[in-house]
Amino acid sequence: MSVHLEARPGEIAPIVLLPGDPLRAQFIAEKFLEDAVCHNRVRNALGFTGTYKGTRVSVQSTGMGMPSAAIYIHELLAQYGARVLIRIGTCGAIRADLRTRDLVLAQAAATDSAMFRATFNGATYAATASFDLLQQAHGLATEWGKPVRVGTVLTSDTFYPDESVVTTWWNPWAEHGVLAAEMETAALYTLAARRSARALSILTVSDNLVTGEQTTAEERQTGFSDMAQLALAVVCE
Ligand code: HPA
Repeated sequence: MSVHLEARPGEIAPIVLLPGDPLRAQFIAEKFLEDAVCHNRVRNALGFTGTYKGTRVSVQSTGMGMPSAAIYIHELLAQYGARVLIRIGTCGAIRADLRTRDLVLAQAAATDSAMFRATFNGATYAATASFDLLQQAHGLATEWGKPVRVGTVLTSDTFYPDESVVTTWWNPWAEHGVLAAEMETAALYTLAARRSARALSILTVSDNLVTGEQTTAEERQTGFSDMAQLALAVVCE
């Protein structure tokens, strides 16, 4: 048991998939895992452990944003021995050349957050994915014919920026090659690096902030299922 997870030692696998939404954790467990057991109900942050093609794997919901995600990621790493963490979630594209439903593999995560500023004495840290996971995910996505982009994402603390200040806040990031905004990856990569664990964020473009294109609820569900299958193939096949 840790502060926010009620699983007993050994009940969570070293490989953990990390969706934000608890019901999506349940969806993965029910649709893809064999013999799945719920290992966490604290705060309704549902988590399940089962097997996929013979490999033990867990799925733990993280909530939204770095402060929430970092709590679960820290406890999984520090108290449950997690070694491979794969976030699966959505992102908002900040360049016109990305389409909704495209996959984005986050090679690196810039951030506007102050969360790790003290850690690095005010300097910035280049939060990066584990190359082997990234390479494996890119190879499989390409083989499966999925439109996939590899690049930097912006991990932001703000989903709803103050539009009376600036309406195109993403321009400096986009002009430096950043593909999309989301809210968790920088924490995942930083905390995984601190514990010498491996990590990757697999994202689907749910909306495009430049063109205004948006996915339907049905498209988001299909995209989520595809990402879960890709994540499971990366870690278990
Ligand atoms: N901002 C942050 N996170 C997101 C967005 C966004 O526009 N879209 C999907 N996740």
